[in-house]
Amino acid sequence: MRPTLLWSLLLLLGVFAAAAAAPPAQLTLETYQEWCNDSAATHDPLSQLPAPQHPKIRLYNAEQVLSWEPVALSNSTRPVVYRVQFKYTNSKWFMADIMSIGVNCTQITATECDFTATRPSAGFPMDFNVTLRLRAELGALHSAWVTMPWFQHYRNVTVGPPENIEVTPGEGSLIIRFSSPFDIADTSTAFFCYYVHYWEKGGIQQVKGPFRSNSISLDNLKPFRVYCLQVQAQLLWNKSNIFRVGHLSNISCYETMADASTELQQVILISVGTFSLLSVLAGACFFLVLKYRGLIKYWFHTPPSIPLQIEEYLKDPTQPILEALDKDSSPKDDVWDSVSIISFPEKEQEDVLQTL
Ligand SMILES: *[C@@H]1O[C@H](CO)[C@@H](O)[C@H](O)[C@H]1NC(C)=O
Ligand SMILES: *[C@@H]1O[C@H](CO)[C@@H](O)[C@H](O)[C@H]1NC(C)=O
Ligand SMILES: *[C@@H]1O[C@H](CO)[C@@H](O)[C@H](O)[C@H]1NC(C)=O
Ligand SMILES: *[C@@H]1O[C@H](CO)[C@@H](O)[C@H](O)[C@H]1NC(C)=O
Ligand SMILES: *[C@@H]1O[C@H](CO)[C@@H](O)[C@H](O)[C@H]1NC(C)=O
Ligand SMILES: *[C@@H]1O[C@H](CO)[C@@H](O)[C@H](O)[C@H]1NC(C)=O
Ligand SMILES: *[C@@H]1O[C@H](CO)[C@@H](O)[C@H](O)[C@H]1NC(C)=O
Repeated sequence: MRPTLLWSLLLLLGVFAAAAAAPPAQLTLETYQEWCNDSAATHDPLSQLPAPQHPKIRLYNAEQVLSWEPVALSNSTRPVVYRVQFKYTNSKWFMADIMSIGVNCTQITATECDFTATRPSAGFPMDFNVTLRLRAELGALHSAWVTMPWFQHYRNVTVGPPENIEVTPGEGSLIIRFSSPFDIADTSTAFFCYYVHYWEKGGIQQVKGPFRSNSISLDNLKPFRVYCLQVQAQLLWNKSNIFRVGHLSNISCYETMADASTELQQVILISVGTFSLLSVLAGACFFLVLKYRGLIKYWFHTPPSIPLQIEEYLKDPTQPILEALDKDSSPKDDVWDSVSIISFPEKEQEDVLQTL
């Protein structure tokens, strides 16, 4: 009887010991949390290592990164490792490991824990109230916990500029397309709106917005002018009426194209201009011709000569001039047509008349 009882007792003790040491097979959040708490408590409670210095949380766009400065021990050959834990508003502490948050930040030698490392939308839900803590470990030794200020991603995030900005110059306009700084899971409680800062080169800056759309059109711009612009996102979290103003994108400049009215104006302007120029040229030519008539005649014209028929008539005045002219013309043509053939400048006709 006695040995069996002893064995039973021992067995019972063994089961208890195993249950205490290993994590429960079926891990609910509560049991996991407790086990985590207990296993932390079973360590030597004395803090024998210096704590990691200057820990900081980087919340930039979707990034959630805790980083710190390494703990340097001159008397140790083994590397110091670090352990990160987190908790939500009223929860207990969780180990930051693959099972809980998807990244292994238990006993790591690296001096940062990137909760978003696996994929961009990983990490803590952006509306959760998260607190992180961190300590250094070396064998059985460990430092005191360094607890960070709590954060809510939407409340504390630094919003970068909109990304993939593409600008298409239009007719007296600029069409701007871009993507949001980061993806938001639940757009009913948090969303981006956008502002465009723009100015004509050397002019006064104007701001247009807010827009919910990722495509903005700046209209009523002057055609053929260079405009510079910057785009800015603003994150609105209406759960707490919180908004985070984002960084401005880099300045970029674009030239607008002609709009329809300007094109018409141009056509009219060019036509009127061409016409005026031609008129002026014609006028100038006419003026020059008038002024330097004698000179031009001297250069280009043969000396005035008497028409052949009249010359003949002058040689033989007995031949009637009208008959002579009639003879040369074709029978079909009437007399007036024949007269019109003798179309010499006025002066010559005068000369002829004078001679007559
Ligand atoms: C474990 O949890 C209890 C309360 O449940 C708490 O008082 C204690 O400080 C925790 N220990 C550690 C090491 O977190
Ligand atoms: C190493 O140095 C730390 C202080 O930097 C000291 O607390 C610790 O006891 C030392 N350990 C050994 C093994 O000397
Ligand atoms: C977030 O949680 C901390 C405690 O972990 C608390 O002090 C703080 O007030 C909470 N913040 C909000 C906005 O609820
Ligand atoms: C976590 O990473 C450390 C070092 O990078 C490694 O030693 C450890 O085994 C890992 N833990 C798990 C649970 O993967
Ligand atoms: C987040 O913002 C709150 C106030 O809005 C502040 O108390 C808290 O310290 C910030 N957290 C971090 C990690 O900066
Ligand atoms: C937040 O915004 C959504 C939609 O934009 C709206 O339905 C909801 O009532 C808002 N909540 C608060 C607290 O303003
Ligand atoms: C903005 O300008 C800075 C420096 O001028 C440069 O490092 C950065 O890559 C630019 N950003 C983009 C999105 O072009």
